[in-house]
Amino acid sequence: MFDFKKATERDSEFINSTWEKLDKKLCVIAERSRDKIPYTTIDGVHTDRAKEEICWWTNGFWGGLMWLMYIGTKNDTYKISAERNEEILDKAFETFWGLHHDVGFMWLLTAGVNYRLTGNEKSKVRTMYAANQLASRYNAVGEFIRAWNLDPCVTIIDSMMNIPLLYWASRELNEPRFKHIATKHADTTIQNHIRPDGSVKHICVYDPESGEYLENLAGQGYSVDSSWSRGQAWALHGFTLSYIHTGEKKYLDAAKKVAHYFIASVCGDYLPKADFRSPEEPVLYDSTASACAACGLLEIARNVPQYEGQMYYNAAIKLLKALDENCCNYSLDEDSVVGLGTERWTDAPDAIGKTANIPIIYGDYYFAEAIYKLKGFDLLFE
Ligand code: GLY
Repeated sequence: MFDFKKATERDSEFINSTWEKLDKKLCVIAERSRDKIPYTTIDGVHTDRAKEEICWWTNGFWGGLMWLMYIGTKNDTYKISAERNEEILDKAFETFWGLHHDVGFMWLLTAGVNYRLTGNEKSKVRTMYAANQLASRYNAVGEFIRAWNLDPCVTIIDSMMNIPLLYWASRELNEPRFKHIATKHADTTIQNHIRPDGSVKHICVYDPESGEYLENLAGQGYSVDSSWSRGQAWALHGFTLSYIHTGEKKYLDAAKKVAHYFIASVCGDYLPKADFRSPEEPVLYDSTASACAACGLLEIARNVPQYEGQMYYNAAIKLLKALDENCCNYSLDEDSVVGLGTERWTDAPDAIGKTANIPIIYGDYYFAEAIYKLKGFDLLFE
């Protein structure tokens, strides 16, 4: 296997200095934003998504970020903020109808990590509720997990990042039923979302009665045939996680196929556009795509032979250095770290600075997760 530790020793200056910069800033922000669930910033100040929409899909990333930093530093400031995020999130269970396919992002990174670290029973129950909610979205005829609660009946590539919640539940219950749902969904996703060239469709539409695949939709990318960069990252990282949880090589092969396409699409400045196949203007970046892809590439590197791993590792380091140099703000004047994230491709004239090229919490989360992996901390969050 690729000697991950040896590779990180060569990059230790970048890795250690980036981790220190993150800690220096985040231990202050952890306290400053303690009673919020941050999403983006306005005038440099974290917004509070818990107030606006408690079921919002990103509401676990702040807690996850706090746990990463706690594991890496043992500073209780982070633990207190992580536990606070988890408690605030309980309100989401009360709504039920607002819950969706993204419950893995919300609870695996918060309650799921808390339970694995501390054995807290309440955290285990929260994570188990979320897993049951996700499993209940399964369409047994079409063999997929349905996204959203609206018509039409669709799957989205993002769900590959949520099914680790089901692998967790199966391990915890010592019972394969949740894992079966996860692997069936992953197989259907390989079949319908991944194009022969390694690019990925965001949304696939199905007949809910027969389970038949009907068509694909553009979603958050530029067009139906384009390539939303965060969707490529969800696939790259998500299939890698399915490989780690199951040992099934077909998932590693799928992850590698998407990784090759991703690396080819960023080579140059290693700053991903919001969509890899979109017009040159407006210039929209998505730092969250490269941060998430870097995490997946590091895991691929760890799981392939010595002379193969270096390529994935090098690509991850290039993505992270490009983020550090071009997108990161380590000053205490602003609450977020990673800027230049984009919610969805758009050519609306007023979008830049509002929904595009903005800091988004999961950019901070995945950037920190990648540096955490490089530091050698080994609790797998997803
Ligand atoms: N899961 C929605 C997004 O990636 O924006």
